[in-house]
Amino acid sequence: MKALLEVLAPGSEERTLAGAIDPKRLPAHVAIIMDGNGRWAKRRNLPRAAGHKAGIDAVRETVETCARLGLKALTLYAFSVENWKRPRTEVDTLWRLLRIYLRRELPVLLKHNVRLSAIGRLGGLPDSVRQELLAAVESTAAKTGLRVNLAINYGGRAELVDAVNALLAEARAAGTLGSLCLDEDLIASHLYTAGVPDPDLLIRTSGEMRVSNFLLWQIAYAEIYVTDTLWPDFRRIDLLRAILDYQKRDRRFGGIKAGAGLKAALPVAQP
Ligand code: IPE
Ligand code: IPE
Ligand code: MG
Repeated sequence: MKALLEVLAPGSEERTLAGAIDPKRLPAHVAIIMDGNGRWAKRRNLPRAAGHKAGIDAVRETVETCARLGLKALTLYAFSVENWKRPRTEVDTLWRLLRIYLRRELPVLLKHNVRLSAIGRLGGLPDSVRQELLAAVESTAAKTGLRVNLAINYGGRAELVDAVNALLAEARAAGTLGSLCLDEDLIASHLYTAGVPDPDLLIRTSGEMRVSNFLLWQIAYAEIYVTDTLWPDFRRIDLLRAILDYQKRDRRFGGIKAGAGLKAALPVAQP
């Protein structure tokens, strides 16, 4: 948080908003559905690719702001399993831009102590993209600051299917398939996000009121913030507004008093 205040001009609106944020009640994990690149470009009579390219600046600023705020995790929805329905040329542009992003931003990620990871069916990516992505992930593996999960070829349903299949395969290998009994912790520990706390705040840009197959399991009790701002226009100030809005929410997790965690609200597991 201090690292953020340092870079904000005294008297600016950003500084005022940041000053109003309670550093003790920051969301540990923010997840973002980065939507509206195509509409951003259309409004400017530009090709959709120009919107995707402009979206990179928003990614850079968001990652840096989350790192300076001291958040634990940021998950960015970059490409869904359904996005393969788009024209080949657009999909190819997205892969090209991902590679440009990784090459250009890696030094910045390292500087901010960011640990990068990728979630999704990475086996479905073009080989060169997957290799570059995994190399970037590897080079940040020892970093201990903000964890940035890039959701690529990601689907929430696909993730659940993959988790259950992984569990079945493990039990089969151990010869315990017959007695396998699933519980929430077992499923959560086999998701791509195993070990990362669930998102506290889910942001969607471009005004769409849907989750589009994003983190279906993990967003069970996320606070949802939808802004009309299109992703390429999303700036530090928009993130600060989202966090301030989040801090006004009364998170009850099914109880009647604010502040109770999800775990505390769950009944004791049945055998
Ligand atoms: C989000 O912007 C980026 C990706 C899904 C890859 P869109 O490309 O969906 O932009 P709109 O929704 O058409 O404006
Ligand atoms: C969701 O946006 C996926 C990403 C942001 C990567 P879409 O633009 O694909 O979602 P829909 O089609 O509007 O639901
Ligand atoms: Mg869209």
